[in-house]
Amino acid sequence: MTTTYRATAGIDVLTSNVAVPGFGLIPVNAFVLHAAEPVLVDTGPIVERDDFLAALRSVIDPSELRWIWLTHTDFDHIGALHALLEENPQLRVITTFVAVGIMSLIAPLPMDRIYLLNPGQTIDVGDRTLTAFKPPAFDNPVTTGFYDQQSGVLFSSDCFGAMLDAVPENAADLTDDELSRGQVFWATVDSPWLHKVDRAAQAKELDAIRALHPNMILSSHLPAAGGDMTERLLASLAAVPSATPFVGPDQAALEHMLEQMTAGG
Ligand SMILES: [Fe+2]
Ligand SMILES: [Fe+2]
Repeated sequence: MTTTYRATAGIDVLTSNVAVPGFGLIPVNAFVLHAAEPVLVDTGPIVERDDFLAALRSVIDPSELRWIWLTHTDFDHIGALHALLEENPQLRVITTFVAVGIMSLIAPLPMDRIYLLNPGQTIDVGDRTLTAFKPPAFDNPVTTGFYDQQSGVLFSSDCFGAMLDAVPENAADLTDDELSRGQVFWATVDSPWLHKVDRAAQAKELDAIRALHPNMILSSHLPAAGGDMTERLLASLAAVPSATPFVGPDQAALEHMLEQMTAGG
């Protein structure tokens, strides 16, 4: 079920929790940035499209949206993408060349509805400038997040996500242990290549985020995190290279789980 909450002035979160049996909950977030030209950041999971659209209508009339910022093309981000493009002819999708290529294999984006923006480039959305950046962790090479100069909010796509036992609306309501364990685990699943990164190179990337002094970090897979949490979020990422790599359940483990479910049911 998709619910909404206000992260900070002018930014609504559309969220639903995905349960991963045996592991916990992953929040899946999209955001409405109420700029002069309103921006929807990602469009929810494919399997929850109708529910997502209903929740969206509770925070903005979709005909008022001018932009969809598509951080990447994963199934938990493209749910309502085409439905919204059909409903609102003035909507355009801010994304990358390779993202358009990937979408062409499942549901092509009309070329006159896209706006290609690479990391480091900016776009004006009426009352503010958004600067695209490549987050220091991602699961899809097309990923771009962005920094909103006016609100000081960093939109980080999948970076900084966490697997949690319960999902509050404010990351500050998580204990240090819940937050760091959840974030490190998520990163080992979602960005397993972090085990291979050069630590000095990673530290530079984390420093670049530190230097922004964001007022808030909004991840696709973490409750809203105020700027006073930035150091904790960066520390979690810094711990990933030496964390235990994730290995998923194998067939024997799956059969054991199914037996337990059958016995219990
Ligand atoms: Fe992803
Ligand atoms: Fe995601």
